[in-house]
Amino acid sequence: MRDTKEKIGMGNVTSVEREVVIKIKDIRKSFGENHVLNGFNMTLHKGENLVVMGKSGSGKSVMIKCLVGLMTPDSGYVEVLGKEISTLDQQHLDELRSDIGFLFQGSALYDSMTVRENLEFPMRRHKDKLGVIDDTKPLVLEALENVGLAHTMDLMPAELSGGMKRRVALARTLILKPKVILYDEPTSGLDPITSKEIIELMRSIQKKYGTSSLIITHDVDCARVISERMILLVDGINYAEGTYAELSASTDPKVEAFFKK
Ligand SMILES: Nc1ncnc2c1ncn2[C@@H]1O[C@H](COP(=O)(O)OP(=O)(O)O)[C@@H](O)[C@H]1O
Ligand SMILES: [Mg+2]
Repeated sequence: MRDTKEKIGMGNVTSVEREVVIKIKDIRKSFGENHVLNGFNMTLHKGENLVVMGKSGSGKSVMIKCLVGLMTPDSGYVEVLGKEISTLDQQHLDELRSDIGFLFQGSALYDSMTVRENLEFPMRRHKDKLGVIDDTKPLVLEALENVGLAHTMDLMPAELSGGMKRRVALARTLILKPKVILYDEPTSGLDPITSKEIIELMRSIQKKYGTSSLIITHDVDCARVISERMILLVDGINYAEGTYAELSASTDPKVEAFFKK
């Protein structure tokens, strides 16, 4: 197996080794003449909250799809949890995906299934990881309790508010105890108060499970609250990188544009 550790500097004081969970090197992706990713680089370390911020249509979803093998980059290198995505066959890709929680843009619950059935779905799909489960109810309840929605187990998605649907979707990703969670626009389409609740929930999950999180958003408030480090995706590259405080103080016009109210 490849060495997934790399040395990173911590200021000029010391240098520590942190495990690398995701590594993207120089990926490119075009759709005809539309050059979306033009050499994007990113590293996510274990236990870290990394926010990638980019304008609508800048290629955030394309990038995250390349990470889980839903899309193939034209060139470049993508590694998740020590596995190079392009070398995996379908079976190994499925195995890897059971360690990746993916909260899709929108909630993507199955409308014709109850909340419980929605949560049971990934358990059936990844039964190799979870082993034989006689009674799914305790696991479903535990996942729903984590998002404060144990009482919705037998409801249909149509009976839930937008914020509740988002929470159920999060519970569904937690059921497989992922090592890394990818959030694609977790607060989009939600009112400010519900957005705040979702952000708080993401933080508490991070604390409880010690997961590594990649959060993709164009929501500056979300980035401010949750990020330890940020990457700005502009013109298909990692245009700027730093903490929220560093980036929001930048005088580069393309960086400033993100933080102007
Ligand atoms: N399957 C596809 N076929 C053609 N163009 C696509 C496809 N997926 C995304 N795109 C284009 O790539 C660009 C980036 O899309 P996307 O990653 O969804 O943006 P966002 O940053 O808003 O998530 C857009 O111009 C979009 O039209
Ligand atoms: Mg998107």
